[in-house]
Amino acid sequence: MSHPRFQLAHGDAVDWLRGLPDECAQLIVTDPPYESLEKHRAVGTTTRLKRSKASSNDWFAIFPNARFPELFEEMYRILSRNSHLYLFCDQETAFVAKPIAEEAGFKFWKPLVWDKKRIGMGYHYRARYEFILFFEKGKRRLNDLGISDIIESPRIHNGYPTEKPVEVSAVLVGQSTQKRELVVDPFMGAGSVGVAAIRDGRDFAGNDISDAAIELTRQRLLEARGVEKDDVVKTAKRRHRGQLSLGM
Ligand SMILES: C[S@@+](CC[C@H](N)C(=O)[O-])C[C@H]1O[C@@H](n2cnc3c(N)ncnc32)[C@H](O)[C@@H]1O
Repeated sequence: MSHPRFQLAHGDAVDWLRGLPDECAQLIVTDPPYESLEKHRAVGTTTRLKRSKASSNDWFAIFPNARFPELFEEMYRILSRNSHLYLFCDQETAFVAKPIAEEAGFKFWKPLVWDKKRIGMGYHYRARYEFILFFEKGKRRLNDLGISDIIESPRIHNGYPTEKPVEVSAVLVGQSTQKRELVVDPFMGAGSVGVAAIRDGRDFAGNDISDAAIELTRQRLLEARGVEKDDVVKTAKRRHRGQLSLGM
């Protein structure tokens, strides 16, 4: 069996998505840098804003809430007919993102909870969890109906800023795709979604506005024995169309 493949791009997430064909991906898992981060930084309720190992910047640029309509519209367009979208999300942004995603056509099911197992920062009850909003386009059955909506995994210390554990994305990828299907992340950071996808035999296409993020992700995906190719999206679209016509 051939190794899973990946394709990486550098640019603005929405611009990148606009260049992808309709219905080419079977899953999106993503984690945009929400503008609520700026608010936490302004009032000093987060210390997770130090220089990152992966970047010469103090922090990456935020993605404004005002751009959600174009982001959800593009994510909806590139997902194949029966597929899922998972959005890592803080509690405040969840209220803003949900109606805009529904307006774009997604069905909202529920927030999953990533339980970090130990308390972190915060003055209004110490933070121990994050939401992962679970959306659907069309109808797709989860692969294992026995999995809980709370995913436990310790937070990452001293990694890329806001890096998510591969184990969390592994649950999402395992639930919502089959082998060789295409997983997409337009804000991939250190590539935790890509690593989960490649390790589990899925193809991956990712994008980030930071060169350092791309280099870091590339190293991790090569270590996971992924093969870098520039036609991953195109091939995935062709393969998926072939499977549909065979009634698979
Ligand atoms: C919250 S981090 C993602 C972390 C990732 N989930 C991980 O596990 O490492 C958000 C990423 O979005 C990138 N970013 C910021 N603005 C962007 C934009 N307009 N388009 C694409 N990427 C952007 C940042 O460089 C950062 O790497």
